[in-house]
Amino acid sequence: MQMKKSGPTFWYTYDKPLIGLSPMDGVTDQPTRAIQKKYGNPDVLYTEFTNVEGMCHGATRLLKDFLYDESQRNIVAQIYGTTPEYFQQVATVVCELGFDGVDINMGCPAKNVSNSGSGAALIENPELAKKIILATKAGVQDYLNGKRASDCTDISPKIAAEVAQRAKTVPGSIHERTHIPVSVKTRVGYHQPVTTEWISFLLELEPAVIALHGRTLKQQYGGLASWEEIALAASLAKHTNTLILGNGDIATHQDALDKIATYSVDGVLIGRGSFGDPFIFTKNTPVDAPSLVKIALEHSELFEKTYKDDEKYTFMPMRKHLGWYVKGFESAKEVRIKLFQANSAADVKSIFMEYNLL
Ligand SMILES: Cc1cc2nc3c(=O)[nH]c(=O)nc-3n(C[C@H](O)[C@H](O)[C@H](O)COP(=O)(O)O)c2cc1C
Repeated sequence: MQMKKSGPTFWYTYDKPLIGLSPMDGVTDQPTRAIQKKYGNPDVLYTEFTNVEGMCHGATRLLKDFLYDESQRNIVAQIYGTTPEYFQQVATVVCELGFDGVDINMGCPAKNVSNSGSGAALIENPELAKKIILATKAGVQDYLNGKRASDCTDISPKIAAEVAQRAKTVPGSIHERTHIPVSVKTRVGYHQPVTTEWISFLLELEPAVIALHGRTLKQQYGGLASWEEIALAASLAKHTNTLILGNGDIATHQDALDKIATYSVDGVLIGRGSFGDPFIFTKNTPVDAPSLVKIALEHSELFEKTYKDDEKYTFMPMRKHLGWYVKGFESAKEVRIKLFQANSAADVKSIFMEYNLL
């Protein structure tokens, strides 16, 4: 645990190691973050990654990724892409929306992302990575200089209007702050770990935080994350103002505390370990089934409330969460099969009642 950094941003205000919820596309949407925050209170939350090219080509639906509520602070918007000018404009949008930080994804290994040169492919293209970081910082500065989404050349009037509308609901104190920090989430390498070169390079660009998943792009999610590589990054950052958050394979709250102590990181992000278990952020005791059932139902209701007016609304993305909530139950398999057919919170309720779980 190093917590030695100083500066005006929220990242430096913690007096304990940070334990945050890792961004996960298709998982950490608005309702999931709200539930994780309510029951686990992770120190920081990230949105799912959002594509800057899509946002600058008028894809209004992407604004869905930028939904959050005040309970979720500190909340960071994560963006990805390959076009520095778009990063600059979307950073301004993120500021106007009142996020506490903007994070650049340099770690996604998915083919549709890395083949376009974004995500983890940026590890092999440090020149572009540098341009992207500088452009994102410039976009934050643009906001401070008075620029808004409606002033950005590539932000459509429709998106700008929605952003301005949402901005009205953000507390004035948030708009008054000086600047929001730019951070990076990445991996230890592309084919092989190149932690020393890559992290040293990023440190020169002074991101507030580097969240480091201890796998290479090539590893995808296989094998084990190398926490030795993460410890190496922490040692490289020791005398800089950048925090290092380790990430990969944390399975319990105690595991998080042990890794923070053993590998001298400033904190950790937990991804898959949080599936169906927001309590991983607070304690180590397994939560009883009745509590999880209530949370699963509340999550379902919130999911429905958040998205039911969407043109292409479907309950399907909620089903995986239901499977995760009940994974440790006695009749897990049977209940899960039923839950995977649920189309509404009302269905979920009646399934739980049928199995005497509610
Ligand atoms: C379904 C899924 C979606 C993910 N989406 C993102 C994403 O949008 N942005 C990101 O930086 N990482 C993403 N990741 C990577 C996670 O944030 C995290 O780095 C990885 O899962 C390792 O941590 P864990 O072992 O605690 O899950 C995703 C991972 C999963 C499993």
